[in-house]
Amino acid sequence: MIRKGIVLAGGLGTRLYPLTLAVSKQLLPVYDKPMIYYPLTTLMLGGIRDVLLISTPRDVDQYRRLLGDGSQWGIQLTYCVQPTPGGLPQAFILGREFLAGEGCALILGDNIFYGAYLGGTLQKVSKQNRGATIFAYRVKDPERYGVVEFDAAGGVRSLEEKPARPKSHFAVVGLYFFDETVADRTRVLTPSSRGELEIVDLIRLYFGEGLLDVELFGRGFAWLDTGTHEALSEAGTFIEVVQKRQGLMVACPEEVAYRQGWIGAEEMERQATRLAGTEYARYLMSLLGSLS
Ligand code: G1P
Repeated sequence: MIRKGIVLAGGLGTRLYPLTLAVSKQLLPVYDKPMIYYPLTTLMLGGIRDVLLISTPRDVDQYRRLLGDGSQWGIQLTYCVQPTPGGLPQAFILGREFLAGEGCALILGDNIFYGAYLGGTLQKVSKQNRGATIFAYRVKDPERYGVVEFDAAGGVRSLEEKPARPKSHFAVVGLYFFDETVADRTRVLTPSSRGELEIVDLIRLYFGEGLLDVELFGRGFAWLDTGTHEALSEAGTFIEVVQKRQGLMVACPEEVAYRQGWIGAEEMERQATRLAGTEYARYLMSLLGSLS
C-alpha cells in the first residue's frame, strides 16, 4: 500500500524565461489556479495524504506560504530543498527520511492529468505491494519524453529517455509509483551524460527484475504539458473550457478533500472566507450540502 507522495517542484524553468526569472514554474497560473494544485490534487485523488514537496532554495518558502502544512486540505505537507538539480531520482535521496523505508508515488509539479477514473486508477495502483508502476500516454512528439516500447503481447520491450529516434509514440508520464526498495535502488544509479540521475534508469532496474507494471492512459484522457509558453497557455485554455462547460472545477484541493471526507463543512467555509469575493470562494460554498 502506497501512502506517501513526493511532488517535485524544482528546476529553473529556463525554457519559460522571462516568466520564471523570479517565480517558480510550478507556481505559474494554469487558468485560475497555481500549477502545483494540479499534481497535488492528483495525488489526493489517489488517496495520498502524506506529501513531501521538493523545491529550490529560492522557491521553497513561496510554496510554504501557498500550501502551509496541508491541514486546510486534510493532508500533511512537508518541504525539502534540492540545492542543485540532480535529476528526478534525487527525490528519493533527499526524501529518504520522509519515506522512512516506505514506497511512494512521485509526481512532477508541472504535469497535469485530467480524465474520468483518474482517482480510481491511482487508488488501485497504490495498493501494489511490490515493484513499480508507470503510466504511458500516446503523444505526437515522443522524443521530448521518456519513451516506452511495447512488444506484440503488450509487454515492455524497451525504455529510453528522450531518444532522437523514438521506438514508439508512448511517452512515460511524470507520475510513478515505487515500492519501498526505491531509496536503495536509487543509490546504485550513476549520472547520465547530462550529469543527472535519470528516472528511466531507475525504472529499468525494476523492469530488469520483472517488477514493472505499465498502465495506459488511453484516448479521452488528457495529459497536458506546460513546458513551453504555448503549451502552458493551451493547458490554461483546456481547463477553462472544461470548467466553464460543466460548472465543476478541475484540481480544486478543497473539493477533493471534502469529497474524500478529509475536511468538513466548517473547514470548507473557512477556506471560502479566506478567498471571499472570488469565483473560487463561491464555488467552494456551492459544494456545501450539495455534493452531486
Ligand atoms: C521528465 C522525465 C521523462 C518524462 C517527463 C514527463 O523529463 O525525465 O522521462 O517523460 O519528465 O514530464 P523532463 O520534462 O523533466 O525533462
